[in-house]
Amino acid sequence: MITINADNIIKTCVISPQVLTDTHLLSPESRLQEAQGLALAINLDVVYAESVKIKEIKPATFFSRGFIERLRPLIAQYEIELMVFDGKLSPIQQRNLERELKIKVIDRTALILEIFGERAQTREGALQVELAHLTYQRSRLVRSWTHLERQRGGAGFLGGPGETQIELDRRLIDDKIVRIKKDLEKVKQTRAIQRSARRKIPYPVVALVGYTNAGKSTLFNRLTQSNVMAADMLFATLDPTMRKVTLPAGMEVIFSDTVGFISDLPHELVMAFRATLEEVLAADIILHVRDVSNPNHAAQRKDVLDVLENLGLAEIKHADNYFEVFNKADLLEKSEYQHWLEKTQRHTRQILLSAANGDGCQKLLQAIEEQLNQKNERYDIVLPLYEGKIAAWLHENAQIEHIENQENENIYTVRLGNDQFSRLQHMTHDVEDIRIRKI
Ligand code: GTP
Repeated sequence: MITINADNIIKTCVISPQVLTDTHLLSPESRLQEAQGLALAINLDVVYAESVKIKEIKPATFFSRGFIERLRPLIAQYEIELMVFDGKLSPIQQRNLERELKIKVIDRTALILEIFGERAQTREGALQVELAHLTYQRSRLVRSWTHLERQRGGAGFLGGPGETQIELDRRLIDDKIVRIKKDLEKVKQTRAIQRSARRKIPYPVVALVGYTNAGKSTLFNRLTQSNVMAADMLFATLDPTMRKVTLPAGMEVIFSDTVGFISDLPHELVMAFRATLEEVLAADIILHVRDVSNPNHAAQRKDVLDVLENLGLAEIKHADNYFEVFNKADLLEKSEYQHWLEKTQRHTRQILLSAANGDGCQKLLQAIEEQLNQKNERYDIVLPLYEGKIAAWLHENAQIEHIENQENENIYTVRLGNDQFSRLQHMTHDVEDIRIRKI
């Protein structure tokens, strides 16, 4: 990892290649801006940024000789020490560029790994990132030594490393990968236990998802009045955070904030994403927070929906537990505001709001409550004490509001969705001494 300390801010250039054959939804200007945002997220000092048209990719250096020659004086002029390349470089291209330009070069994957490394707060998040980092290093081991050299503080390699050294390093990395996977398994088991414990608490879960910087943490803070780190910085949050909220008519729910999405996510990080997004899969309501003041909001929406779809939430946008939150209404021009207002007024699950000043937030909470109420009917269930299996099922699947213990039976007041109710009916078909009453 790059070591960054406050006294030694690294002067950086950001180069965003526009390969003519690539099709991107984002404009070159937006891509460059986003890449700069990513560099700023780990406090790099971006002194120069350029979007470069690439007619033909050179296998050895990616860029043409002409461009490399043009960069040299700029590097000297701005005392640049690091190039952030907003794309994918092969290990050879990276090494050759480092040699030619005499500065460190990192590509988009490495940069995002750095950001995730800085932001990971829970043990699982940190382990996932370390695993992704090692996998990335391992794939570059044969020809690029920069990462390992850096990891060892530059000691050890004076001459070029031989094949034996490569084998040794590969084995060291493999051992480490095995160890991390074991640790991760343990952490995951603990989390699964915590999750099932939480499932027993009778609160529906509302998960916030959205493109990075859309305003999830700000909305989360506003709705839960807590103080999760919210900053104008990409990926300010990596690990899910949970808080209990009482909705306007009294229903209690848990809000869960998640990691921000980004386009072209390095595949090494998809696993890390999966872990943090497991919460989303189990959520009762998914709130997709969008920054409608951003000119790229449509492309960002598509990226988020693609990730959700890849996670197994196909057709999520038509599901009745999917809400679209159009955030940053306060930044909209009057005519734009009017447009979004009219659009959202036609749909019960689309809300225009401003997380910054709170406008529209109450309406969102009401809409969530209405949706949850629709899904869940309330029942009183009188259950004899010996029906342990059904009691366990209720604890696992129902939202239990109250249990009244009597001598031979318990009376459960629960909320159940339609599917769960059918399952309960099926399970209790032949059990005569159970009484179920809708309330
Ligand atoms: P990641 O952690 O990167 O996923 O970002 P996030 O979606 O959690 O965004 P965050 O809440 O950190 O907000 C990003 C920036 O947008 C911050 O500077 C917020 O102050 C700002 N912001 C969020 N909501 C609003 C809003 O409704 N209006 C305005 N004007 N700014 C907002």
